[in-house]
Amino acid sequence: MIEISTSILNVEKENAMKVFYGLEVAHTDYFHIDVMDGKFVPKNTVVLMQEYSNSIKQISNIPIDVHLMVENVKEFIDEYAGIEPNIITFHLEAASSKDEVMEYINLIKSTGAKVGIAIKPNTKVEEVYDYLPYIHMCLVMTVEPGLGGQKLIPETLDKVKTLKEYIDNNNIDIDIEVDGGINSDTIESVKEAGANIFVIGTAIVKSENIEKSVESFRG
Ligand code: DX5
Ligand code: ZN
Repeated sequence: MIEISTSILNVEKENAMKVFYGLEVAHTDYFHIDVMDGKFVPKNTVVLMQEYSNSIKQISNIPIDVHLMVENVKEFIDEYAGIEPNIITFHLEAASSKDEVMEYINLIKSTGAKVGIAIKPNTKVEEVYDYLPYIHMCLVMTVEPGLGGQKLIPETLDKVKTLKEYIDNNNIDIDIEVDGGINSDTIESVKEAGANIFVIGTAIVKSENIEKSVESFRG
């Protein structure tokens, strides 16, 4: 089943409530929260994402999909546990050892959330294989993390295909999420590659009709 996780990173403050209500009515499958600490990536969205998450929790029961682009993973797992997200995803590149990766996995599980591991475009997909039995989702970044509105890097879709083949061949039950540059021109190729959760920001939140747009991507 195809699911849409709408990234609210590029929602303007003046329109925020209107867009959040629109996404609620459109039944986006998740709200995707992009937490950036100004260190793992240059941009800092810590305060804005806190505000947006609190606003969303006030008006919606739709699951929350937290994408941590941060160095201090533990600090932000603790912080986001409070809003009871459905999924918390951290970057493999933020961990310095296998033990640390397992520590983050267990900490996320202890909050009751599902666990996702994200990989940047230059990280080999094989690097997550050891962790797949312990997690629920792998997020294959289709742009460099840090900004919304970028162009999808086509080579990243080969990693999605490789991962999809690997999980099918090994009977591993895991979601494959893709994030960055997904729009009406690129979505078909991403579906074909084998992803099943699509993070879409600009192409939904900047569209004229949010409801129609979510529906068209779900297809
Ligand atoms: C990029 C973020 C994405 C991004 C998606 O670092 O993780 O979630 O905001 O936005 P679009 O769809 O505009 O690429
Ligand atoms: Zn994201």
